[in-house]
Amino acid sequence: MGVERVQDIASLSKDEIPAEFIRSVDEQPGITTVHGEVLEVPTIDLADPDEEKVLQAIVDASRDWGMFQIVNHGVPVEAITKLQAVGKEFFELPQEEKEVYAKPPGSQSVEGYGTKLQKEVEGKKAWVDHLFHNIWPPSAVNYRFWPKNPPSYREVNEEYAKHMHGVVEKLFKSLSLGLRLEGHELKEAASGDDLVYLLKINYYPPCPRPDLALGVPAHTDMSAFTILVPNHVQGLQAFRDSHWYDVKYIPNAFVIHIGDQLEILSNGKYKSVLHRTTVNKEHTRMSWPVFLEPSPDFVVGPHPKLVDHENPPKYKTKKYGDYVHCKLNKIPQ
Ligand code: SIN
Ligand code: FE2
Repeated sequence: MGVERVQDIASLSKDEIPAEFIRSVDEQPGITTVHGEVLEVPTIDLADPDEEKVLQAIVDASRDWGMFQIVNHGVPVEAITKLQAVGKEFFELPQEEKEVYAKPPGSQSVEGYGTKLQKEVEGKKAWVDHLFHNIWPPSAVNYRFWPKNPPSYREVNEEYAKHMHGVVEKLFKSLSLGLRLEGHELKEAASGDDLVYLLKINYYPPCPRPDLALGVPAHTDMSAFTILVPNHVQGLQAFRDSHWYDVKYIPNAFVIHIGDQLEILSNGKYKSVLHRTTVNKEHTRMSWPVFLEPSPDFVVGPHPKLVDHENPPKYKTKKYGDYVHCKLNKIPQ
């Protein structure tokens, strides 16, 4: 028997949703969202000729928000539009065609089509299906998990991976300089050219009770940082001053989340952002985060140059793969 996909459940749900999707009152977005206010997270124009100002804005946002959006990032709108189109086409295929790419039971990797990643509190379910696969470096790519349909899926995703490089390099360099490290040192401490680009596609079908369900529940990303592009449907929320806010939507901007590994590497100077997603009554929401992750055997900890007698390490040093294992299984780090 196969796993039940949210896409199927959604197609059967008219006015109500199954009980396992109904969040507790302290999570329900209808109750816990600050309504009538949209959070204006810092928006940074990467093409601003004042490079000093751009660098400072990236550093400030990573310290004070753990989140920002970038515009004029150099990735052509067409590359984003195509990525979104082929991902949407895949999720609109008949269910049995998608199941070909299902994450194999017991697999240690997250790659594949699936429905749930984290073991959730009280067994609640999230209103989302997903597809995970690495897009870079070539040694980390397993085409078994790349849809063959639509036929252009592979080319479009390879193209997108190439476009990601410039943004990744730029952000790592700025974040490194912001810690008074040399430009190349932070990326090196996150496994350098072995850094893995893991793409996730989130598919949030329409939900009759968006006030009660969540797409992805509150979490911080495990990555160093994440470069995300959503479709046109609002749904990303960030936790700020003890409240949940919708994040302002800017077409074709990338949303950057600072993840746990950068918080660790920076010994707490940069903060990973707590975020979650809501779902929509009429529209399918989708998003394409690319997680920039150290390779699994690479050891990550507070950067040695940022630690001394006055600044003892605030985090443990461990292999990234072990970090992921602990977080997914809720074992204290
Ligand atoms: C996530 O960051 O976990 C999902 C974000 C989104 O769908 O916008
Ligand atoms: Fe996330």
